Amino acid sequence: MAGLIRGRTAAMTTAEQPTVPLAGDARMPLLGFGTWQATGEAGYKAVLAALDAGYRHIDTATMYGNEEEVGRAIKESDLRREDVFLTTKLPPDRVGRERETIEASLRALDTDYLDLWLIHWPPSSPGDSIPVWRELLAARDEGLTRTVGVSNYSISQIDELIQSTEETPAVNQIRWSPSLYDRQTHAAHRDRGVVLEGYSPFKTSDLSHPVLARIAAAHGVSPAQVVLRWHIDHEIVVIPKSVTPDRIRANADIFGFSLTAEEMRDIDALGG
Ligand SMILES: NC(=O)c1ccc[n+]([C@@H]2O[C@H](COP(=O)([O-])OP(=O)(O)OC[C@H]3O[C@@H](n4cnc5c(N)ncnc54)[C@H](OP(=O)(O)O)[C@@H]3O)[C@@H](O)[C@H]2O)c1
Repeated sequence: MAGLIRGRTAAMTTAEQPTVPLAGDARMPLLGFGTWQATGEAGYKAVLAALDAGYRHIDTATMYGNEEEVGRAIKESDLRREDVFLTTKLPPDRVGRERETIEASLRALDTDYLDLWLIHWPPSSPGDSIPVWRELLAARDEGLTRTVGVSNYSISQIDELIQSTEETPAVNQIRWSPSLYDRQTHAAHRDRGVVLEGYSPFKTSDLSHPVLARIAAAHGVSPAQVVLRWHIDHEIVVIPKSVTPDRIRANADIFGFSLTAEEMRDIDALGG
């Protein structure tokens, strides 16, 4: 499978992908590839197909049990490591074993560094939150990951981290889609300099909703592509998952159109 990417009709390259700046000099592609429930050979093939289709950002987690497959696909794509933005996550049951967990992730992913390491869920004991966050910051300071952030955190939980350490999470990865749209939550992240990264864009969407169908028809695309483009036009990171080659490609083919201000407002209103 080596060399799959070379010689293909050019998919969008890293330089052409819309990105959002993170702390330091890191930039995060707004479109990423989700890998939850993409395990084993199917997971490996899905990630390889995603890289071939032009995704340059892969989202995994220790809990997904597929870091080895993700690492192997990146290696065999023949892309340079620095051309792929790679995220993994610390599970809640690893509190107190953060260093050993990131080392295991790096080994499985066959890489020297992550681009983003997230706390997957707030620790069940609230008293653990600050010490865990300090461990992530230490891993960043040692160069094991370029940036650090959180997932499934509320704004008040983020504020607690900032107040205690004066270090702002680069990213908060939360469930997000048109039907979950909340202007205030989006603004609260922006005001703090936290990039909002949405997950489960399809699972939380009604892809047959008439508003999405009408806007999709107007652009000659699918409602799923409209949902993804809506994230991009809001500068919200989105990480659709698929193990189906046609869907993997279609979900990346969202840069040939953009939504009007009125269409964006109509989709925002689905969050009613
Ligand atoms: N931080 C967290 O706690 C957390 C939680 C959940 C998810 N995530 C991350 O976010 C990623 C995405 O979320 P998700 O996997 O929950 O859900 P999702 O991306 O919203 O949906 C995936 C489902 O949609 C299907 N699908 C893919 N493309 C489609 C299309 N164009 N039209 C119709 N259906 C389509 C997929 O089917 P096929 O695969 O069969 O094609 C799969 O069943 C995850 O993979 C993971 O990386 C993070």
